[in-house]
Amino acid sequence: MPKTIYLIGASGALGGAVAARFATAGWELGLSARSPEGAEDLEARFPGAQVQSFDTGDPLGADRAFTGWSARIGPPDACFHLAGGYLGGKGIAEWTETEWRAQWETNLLGPALCLSRAFSLMRDAGRPGLLIGVGAVPGVTPATGKAPYAVAKAGLLHLVRGLAEEGRPHGIRANAIVPGTIDTPANRAAMPNADRSSWGDPSEIARLLLVLAEGGTAATGSVLFV
Ligand SMILES: NC(=O)c1ccc[n+]([C@@H]2O[C@H](COP(=O)([O-])OP(=O)(O)OC[C@H]3O[C@@H](n4cnc5c(N)ncnc54)[C@H](OP(=O)(O)O)[C@@H]3O)[C@@H](O)[C@H]2O)c1
Repeated sequence: MPKTIYLIGASGALGGAVAARFATAGWELGLSARSPEGAEDLEARFPGAQVQSFDTGDPLGADRAFTGWSARIGPPDACFHLAGGYLGGKGIAEWTETEWRAQWETNLLGPALCLSRAFSLMRDAGRPGLLIGVGAVPGVTPATGKAPYAVAKAGLLHLVRGLAEEGRPHGIRANAIVPGTIDTPANRAAMPNADRSSWGDPSEIARLLLVLAEGGTAATGSVLFV
């Protein structure tokens, strides 16, 4: 029987590479994008996948998506929260309340709502599984100009460690990956003259995630720099 993965943020650069890698490995896919257009694009790229569109900061939308996936493809063996969004370029005292809230909603509240839903589906089904959240280097080492994003990503690492701790008795593993700069179309457009030799390849990150999901490691509560 194929294993099942729910991928939040599958319409993104990393999300698309992960969806492709797991599809090739024969996994059943529950995919999400924020916009209906993003969801239509995923349906075209991954025929047979169960696609949902919702904003991760909207608890009702997240509930609807998880209930839909669970009814159609069953509880997940893995759930990766790959959605996120970066805002930078201002000093710590210059951010507005709206900007702080928006960055925390996208990069911390959304992952908390989604990964905890996946956790409860796994636990209630008695199904061991893997949860993944995506951090960022400023969430480990503070840097100037990106405080709301950095604080949210720091919180995400603690969220994942908490899921790992509570998951141990149920065989539920939770890990975070912390990418450096990923080689994405958006980064290429934003930094056209950058040396890309040290940028992360999304398909290689996806390969590592497949190894983690297919049981090649007992790692849990870990932060993997990729
Ligand atoms: N790119 C990098 O260099 C880099 C470095 C370190 C960490 N990261 C982290 O890695 C992850 C993936 O990055 P990426 O470059 O693949 O990002 P991306 O191409 O910008 O894709 C982001 C994904 O998240 C979704 N998303 C964003 N906000 C959402 C919301 N509020 N509700 C639902 N979905 C939402 C987007 O959906 P729509 O397409 O529908 O908007 C899209 O699927 C993010 O968590 C990012 O913070 C990236």
